[in-house]
Amino acid sequence: MAKVTRKPLISGNWKMHHNHFEAISTVQKLAYILTKDDYEAVDVSVHPPFTDLRSVQTVLEADEIPVALGAQHCHWEDKGAFTGEVSPAFLAKLNVTYVIVGHSERRELFGETDEMVNVKAKAILKLGMTPIICCGETLEEREAGSTDEKVAGQVRAGLAGITPEQIGGLVIAYEPIWAIGTGRTASAEDAQAVCSLVRATVSEVAGRDAAESVRIQYGGSVKGSNAVELMAQPDIDGALVGGASLVAEDFAAIVQYHAAG
Ligand code: PGA
Repeated sequence: MAKVTRKPLISGNWKMHHNHFEAISTVQKLAYILTKDDYEAVDVSVHPPFTDLRSVQTVLEADEIPVALGAQHCHWEDKGAFTGEVSPAFLAKLNVTYVIVGHSERRELFGETDEMVNVKAKAILKLGMTPIICCGETLEEREAGSTDEKVAGQVRAGLAGITPEQIGGLVIAYEPIWAIGTGRTASAEDAQAVCSLVRATVSEVAGRDAAESVRIQYGGSVKGSNAVELMAQPDIDGALVGGASLVAEDFAAIVQYHAAG
């Protein structure tokens, strides 16, 4: 089988940072820096807070900026009595392309389970959007040698009941929890080893073709200075970037890894 070329996806997860004015200004600065070559080499998405989505959508569409709009989270039902939750159908109406599901902060701080991740991913796919399904181990799990078991388990549970064709089109983000927001990055070799395990798990669940086309991001203190080495790994197809995505120049430096060297 011919090797599938996977277009890298660099995603900026802004978490609970940037109000809608700051979001607009960050996107405009980013668009000023990024070039046609960047967009040809790399898919780029930004994931602002919900309250910014409409403003950012308007700027991206009015200025024809080829950055995809992303969300950080959603509910699995299209509507209903779920005070405070956000419908995936409403995200689709805003032309959201990617939705992060099961980020470790959602799992740890807001009680999201593997089952919730799975039903959310299905709801997102049903609406024609692409889930970015997150997985990753804690420091204790890494030290206990259970990284592979934890990550493979999260991937299997997250993908349960999703068709191989759909799995081939989605994104999985491997984010070791101890590397998120800590300035500690997994070494390129360690990140590659776990991303390769993620791909092998996808192959078991959905077959070789899906495993060859699924995009796997690494996340956890990605910066301009480590992006080139991480992105050079054969099973790393992108990055999910938190802190360094908040400043347009820093995020652009990561996107422009492809032109380095
Ligand atoms: P970080 O966050 O880049 O600030 O480590 C990554 C993430 O949580 O997605």
